[in-house]
Amino acid sequence: MIAENGDGMQRALVTGASRGIGRALVAELAGRGLEVVATARRVDDLAGLPAVARLALDVTSDASVAAAAGAAGRVDVLVNNAGVSVGAPVEDTPVGEALAMFDANVVGPLRLIKAFLPGMRQRGSGTVVNVSSVGGQVAFPLNGANAASKHALEALSETLAMEVRRFGIRVLVVQLGGVATGMYEKQERYFSPAYADLDRAQQDAYQDHRARQVDLTAEQAARGIADAIADTSSPLRVPIGDDAAGIIAARARLDDTAWAARVGGFAQQKSKEVR
Ligand SMILES: NC(=O)c1ccc[n+]([C@@H]2O[C@H](COP(=O)([O-])OP(=O)(O)OC[C@H]3O[C@@H](n4cnc5c(N)ncnc54)[C@H](OP(=O)(O)O)[C@@H]3O)[C@@H](O)[C@H]2O)c1
Repeated sequence: MIAENGDGMQRALVTGASRGIGRALVAELAGRGLEVVATARRVDDLAGLPAVARLALDVTSDASVAAAAGAAGRVDVLVNNAGVSVGAPVEDTPVGEALAMFDANVVGPLRLIKAFLPGMRQRGSGTVVNVSSVGGQVAFPLNGANAASKHALEALSETLAMEVRRFGIRVLVVQLGGVATGMYEKQERYFSPAYADLDRAQQDAYQDHRARQVDLTAEQAARGIADAIADTSSPLRVPIGDDAAGIIAARARLDDTAWAARVGGFAQQKSKEVR
């Protein structure tokens, strides 16, 4: 149970609650006794959620963030969950897609932080939760722009944590591994013929993951995030799920060359098969 703030129930706001992890997190936090403000681009998508308020919020729009912040009231726990992804080798990544990804994944959380931090600072308490990924700390082929955006989100979070701890505000980065929301399978993909072998290798890997059911469900991911929020002694970065913790630990043990050999190996092998 998350500690109360002195004046009643804790109140959380979750972005991107229309589906996936955000939707599951609204239910999980409400089940733990928090008041939850659920937000999504389309309010209709929030029907049926156990929320005290359902608000329209597009994290890429200054006006939308201002309107939602005005309507939300006090927020003790801000969860920046909304995010987008595209799959592409760096060379094929459309610049417009990269900008859109940074807008949603990095500047969006910044907009929300700017909107809700003053209130937290005045009250001398609050928690900012930024939903990142293993890709926020570790690089893989075909995920460069998304990983770059999550690395940027983690740098922003680490800086913020140093700046606001003295105001009694906690910053938490949850690093998700695979979660079966379909996000990566549904993402836009950009592959020129030079990278078709990697595209196939990635599709095989997704199929293998699905068949082995190694990904967390959205509900399991939501429980992990809620546990991390509730544990006020948790460090800044909290991997969620065994695969996330395992990959981050493996990366920490290897230097850049050894890591590239490990994760890039499948790509080189596939290239040889195709050639
Ligand atoms: N699934 C995974 O394996 C995985 C792994 C690592 C990290 N993550 C992270 O976990 C978070 C949630 O992912 P998910 O798997 O639940 O993805 P998802 O099922 O695709 O849901 C993404 C959510 O973000 C919302 N969203 C996108 N752009 C938005 C915008 N401009 N304003 C407001 N909301 C917006 C979507 O709303 P609409 O319905 O309006 O599109 C949707 O609610 C993301 O930050 C993602 O990077 C996921």
